[in-house]
Amino acid sequence: MWILVLEIFIYVFQQQRHLFEKYQNPCSGAMGVITRKMTEGQSSLPRLPVPTLQETLKKYLKSVKPLVTDEEFRITEEIVNKFGAQNGLGEKLQSSLEERAKISENWLTDWWISTAYLDYRWPVVVWSSPGLVFPLQEFHTLDDQLNYASLVIAGALDYKIMVDEKTVPLDMMGKDPLDMSQYFKIFGTCRIPGVTRDSIAFHGQSDNPPTHIVVAHNNHFFKIDVYGKRRLPLNAGQIFSQLRNCVERSTHPGVPVGILTSQNRNAWGKNYKQLCKDKLNKASFEDIQRSIFLVCIDGPINKSSGCRANDAALQCIHGNGISGNAGNRWYDKTIQFIIGKKGEVGLTYEHSPAEGPPIANLMDHIVKYIGGSKQDYQLPAVELSKPKRLMFNIPSDMDYEIENSKSSLESLVQDLEMTCFTFTGFGKNYIKSQKLSPDSFIQMAIQLAFYRIHKEPGAQYESASTRKFLHGRTETIRSCSEESTHFAQKMLDPNANSTQKVMALKSAIEAHKKYALDAVNGRGVDRHLLGLKMIAIEQGMDIPKLFMDVSYLRSSHMRLSTSQVPAECEAFMCYGPLVPDGYGCCYNPRSDSIVFGTSALNSSPETHSTVFRKALEESLYDMRTVLIEDGLKAKL
Ligand SMILES: *[C@@H]1O[C@H](CO)[C@@H](O)[C@H](O)[C@H]1NC(C)=O
Ligand SMILES: *[C@@H]1O[C@H](CO)[C@@H](O)[C@H](O)[C@H]1NC(C)=O
Repeated sequence: MWILVLEIFIYVFQQQRHLFEKYQNPCSGAMGVITRKMTEGQSSLPRLPVPTLQETLKKYLKSVKPLVTDEEFRITEEIVNKFGAQNGLGEKLQSSLEERAKISENWLTDWWISTAYLDYRWPVVVWSSPGLVFPLQEFHTLDDQLNYASLVIAGALDYKIMVDEKTVPLDMMGKDPLDMSQYFKIFGTCRIPGVTRDSIAFHGQSDNPPTHIVVAHNNHFFKIDVYGKRRLPLNAGQIFSQLRNCVERSTHPGVPVGILTSQNRNAWGKNYKQLCKDKLNKASFEDIQRSIFLVCIDGPINKSSGCRANDAALQCIHGNGISGNAGNRWYDKTIQFIIGKKGEVGLTYEHSPAEGPPIANLMDHIVKYIGGSKQDYQLPAVELSKPKRLMFNIPSDMDYEIENSKSSLESLVQDLEMTCFTFTGFGKNYIKSQKLSPDSFIQMAIQLAFYRIHKEPGAQYESASTRKFLHGRTETIRSCSEESTHFAQKMLDPNANSTQKVMALKSAIEAHKKYALDAVNGRGVDRHLLGLKMIAIEQGMDIPKLFMDVSYLRSSHMRLSTSQVPAECEAFMCYGPLVPDGYGCCYNPRSDSIVFGTSALNSSPETHSTVFRKALEESLYDMRTVLIEDGLKAKL
């Protein structure tokens, strides 16, 4: 399974620095960036290219080499050569793919959304939906919690005005404008479960766009209209009184219908279909699906890890199971703000409609909005209509399914372990002072950490944005390379001197930068190969041998799922591993520190996020040490 967990990042090449800085510190506004109209570039965006067959096969062979034995590689080479031979299968598929690319706006879009998301049958919880933890708060009373929730809602509605009026600043990568269509897909959106395949319902841009949000408290759901008489959003004070009303009307835990959304998708699809036969259920589902977003007012965290950042991360990812707040969720919903009782706050998002940038921008806006608000909670001047309780008719056979969902989710909760920490040794300023790319440097530290623990290289997924292209989403950067493996070996070789180590580091960084640049230009390996495979499937052919080969399987079994999420403030993104024996590793490089959210599964005896953290910190320190040593020698 090679499923994208997430992308957010924006690649940091020297020439694209200003873009990175904008993401890194949006508080400084779009300084140095000429702000252009949100949709200005859209009509002239280039189409996602189809790389040539030979180019991809060559890159592919190079990328699998460190992950297989010589004998395995020899077989792979034979398979690839046969596939790429003149008038061979590869060329046939390639020409069909090129045809498709000519007649579609983006040849990948439909296939990607299907294979990465809608056909994917594992639960979205842990396996697909990331968490985004906001700066932690201190709440002492219910009013504190509701005040903050009101401001989050008001801030999000404020952001929505920018989206509706198309005034969000245009994202740029260097001189290139990026596709902005994802911004229109985050509000009023919901994933709809299906028995064999899900779908997505977009209501935000419809003729009759929603004017309500849904609030969850104690497993109860309430619909709140957030636009007043003149179609103006309610202010924070008005929202506060509405939230208060919801909380007062849900003092006892409700039947946790929402927990069903954490099931594997086939099971939930089946249950959803059955529940929809009841008109009341159907109407309530629709209110949730059409809502602008969901807000979960949570109860206490039942199990604390002793680290608030970890607690908040888990709260966003899985809600700590049924004894925590997992019934107080609707995991199909694109955006769910999570407002913890003591101040663990953030959101979780269902990944299919969009990547991180619109979500991270939304968060930045909210955090700034809250910072700038006067926090006066005057009572509403006008009478507001009471929040509407969403009702469900739960047939008794559904109790069994609810119990089932509880126990499956509980296994996931027990399985996922996270270590969120800030590495304080240095940050991107130091890396830049060495004239190295911070992102490539950190990617190599992750490779080294894995090698240190497992004594072998691990396939590493880093997401690159292809939003330079119309409807572009992501490409995989295969960060594990011959060069990264050589680097890890040299670093761990007691007989190698620092000059050799630094040379190996620099060549690994160069290789990573080159692949990353190819990826953002739509010339990576993974999406192209997916395209060729999908053509074969659509034409009713057998899956080509290349895709059954050990090299393919191993190089796409991403034991490291990584991404850079340069959020401002102390926010961080987190998610589970992509494969059972893998790690998730999301990072936010700051000037003099690096924030990491790492994860692993307890069911895998060989992976532990605490061990990974230690190896990662050691790697970063060692890399700095060899740079310093080598620098001193150079001066002598
Ligand atoms: C945690 O949940 C268990 C089981 O539901 C309950 O007995 C216990 O009181 C809870 N603990 C806290 C601190 O809420
Ligand atoms: C490092 O080792 C290499 C290979 O053994 C050698 O050629 C080089 O002179 C050494 N450099 C230093 C500074 O010791």
